[in-house]
Amino acid sequence: MKRPRTGGQRETLSLGPHRSGAPGVSPVRLSLWGTKEGTVRIRDFQETDCDALVAILRANLQYGDPESEGPEAMRRVSACPAALFLVAEEEGIPVGLLRGVYDGSKALIHIVSVRPDRQRQGIGSALVREAARRFRERGARSLAVTVPGDNLAFWKRLSFRLTTRIMVAHRIDEVIGG
Ligand SMILES: CC(C)(COP(=O)(O)OP(=O)(O)OC[C@H]1O[C@@H](n2cnc3c(N)ncnc32)[C@H](O)[C@@H]1OP(=O)(O)O)[C@@H](O)C(=O)NCCC(=O)NCCS
Repeated sequence: MKRPRTGGQRETLSLGPHRSGAPGVSPVRLSLWGTKEGTVRIRDFQETDCDALVAILRANLQYGDPESEGPEAMRRVSACPAALFLVAEEEGIPVGLLRGVYDGSKALIHIVSVRPDRQRQGIGSALVREAARRFRERGARSLAVTVPGDNLAFWKRLSFRLTTRIMVAHRIDEVIGG
């Protein structure tokens, strides 16, 4: 198969039923994106990814809240129709992930994480571009990221511009009060 040019897409394939063949769910989609070293496959999350993804998040110090980042949360996100949960894999091994959501009006990326030894190869960009493509297909006209972290250069190169800061209440019980 012809290799996609660096930073460019790819080919998109459908790979049979997602989530144990449950009725009414979409097939797994697989997209190929060119990176500096070859090709990365970007597809929907699968249950078997959990351990590898937790290891990536831990390595990037993004696993501070297992309740919202751990395997149970991953399964819930994967089952949520508004969510997008992408995994980048090389030779069958997950090397990155992206989670986001489109609420029918606005699209938002919550987290992107690439295994440290595979960073600066174009994998993070491929994940964000594939997410943008999927969100646009659903109707999104813009795309935001909640936690750009210390990597503003990464986001700026992908056309994101810093606007307002967001505020977070953690835990939600404190908002409800009582
Ligand atoms: C941020 C992150 C997702 C980027 O993924 P990546 O695969 O390394 O990024 P890419 O290879 O696609 O980078 C594309 C361009 O963005 C810029 N960039 C990426 N990481 C950068 C960094 N640490 N410092 C400066 N520029 C950076 C560069 O211009 C880079 O191109 P170049 O390598 O040719 O110079 C990855 O570094 C990561 O997982 N970091 C830890 C977790 C994190 O902070 N996530 C973001 C908040 S949710």
